[in-house]
Amino acid sequence: METIIVTGGAGYIGSHTIIELLNKTIFQIVSIDNFSNSSPDSYSRISALTTRPFETIQVDLCDHVLLNQKLSYYSNIIGIIHFAAFKSVSDSISDPIKYYHNNINSLNNILDFAKQQNVLNFIFSSSCSVYGNSKDLPVTENSPLQKAESPYGHTKQISEEIISFFCKTNPSFKTVLLRYFNPVGAHPSGKNGEFPINIPNNLVPIITQTAIGKNSLTVFGNDYNTRDGSCIRDYIHVCDIADAHLKALNYLIQHHEKKQCSLFNLGTGNGVSVLEAIKSFEKITNQKLHYKIGERRTGDVIAIYANNELAKTELNWIPQYNIDDMMLSAWKWENHLEEQNTK
Ligand code: UD1
Repeated sequence: METIIVTGGAGYIGSHTIIELLNKTIFQIVSIDNFSNSSPDSYSRISALTTRPFETIQVDLCDHVLLNQKLSYYSNIIGIIHFAAFKSVSDSISDPIKYYHNNINSLNNILDFAKQQNVLNFIFSSSCSVYGNSKDLPVTENSPLQKAESPYGHTKQISEEIISFFCKTNPSFKTVLLRYFNPVGAHPSGKNGEFPINIPNNLVPIITQTAIGKNSLTVFGNDYNTRDGSCIRDYIHVCDIADAHLKALNYLIQHHEKKQCSLFNLGTGNGVSVLEAIKSFEKITNQKLHYKIGERRTGDVIAIYANNELAKTELNWIPQYNIDDMMLSAWKWENHLEEQNTK
């Protein structure tokens, strides 16, 4: 059976993508995760939303020897989707070495495995953080990359370069780099969503946790040069991101790709400020959210949103969800977690 390896498959975007792969393709799916920011419960949630079994491997991708040993049981691997990475901008500023070590070594090891086993199709989770504080809004894939604002963003810039050089020396290897903007929201069922083991520092989980009484929201800065003073981001529903991976896989496997190393922005194209995101949440849940205004956060870019025309035309990918849908699904998920806790 043709096999797809998904690294970071127990994580937020990985788990939503596995749900789509199991429901919409016939590939055997093998998830690799070390649960550094997730838990095996994620696999139970995937199983509850799908009807096919999938395989799981618990291994740290930085452990080269063990990784190769555990993967040696699988043959006919036709593609790798590499999600596994640390992803917190603020953590990366506090502990840069941890980010360079994990994000770069895991990529090197999985690329080395691909080379040894002749796996030819590779999809990589990049980020809009590679653009830094771009003056070119909306950013296109050709916008010049500015200096990264955080070690996290820098690891994504370095990773893109590693993959690009790897492609040059391995001409049959084909890759799609997906630059996610800000993935948020949850599965429409409300039964899978972001479940970080470490304290979340992304906006949407903090909004929903604040509304349910488990956290308190501070808006990081209201004195930026933006329409309401708060930072602007391009929030994109996690299921739209998952869908883009299926389209990227098809693009590679069906040989529709025009370049050996293709690059796509995954955003809606709409910039939404932090205060507008809060208003959307208040509107769809019909409640007032209590928050305070705080200092700017180190490492934040001021404003970024995507030109997504290339993904639309080349991958045939059209985002389906707007900011209200994203907030509603995230709220449904937060309530689901609360129900589980009180059972
Ligand atoms: C960054 C990356 C994004 C990546 C994500 C992974 C950029 C531009 N984006 O998102 O591609 O997927 O990391 O973690 O680098 N905020 C508050 N209060 C809070 C939390 C956040 O005001 O308690 C604000 C932030 O200042 C920011 C916005 O909300 O303006 C979004 O922040 P967050 O959700 O943490 O994502 P980014 O750091 O933008």
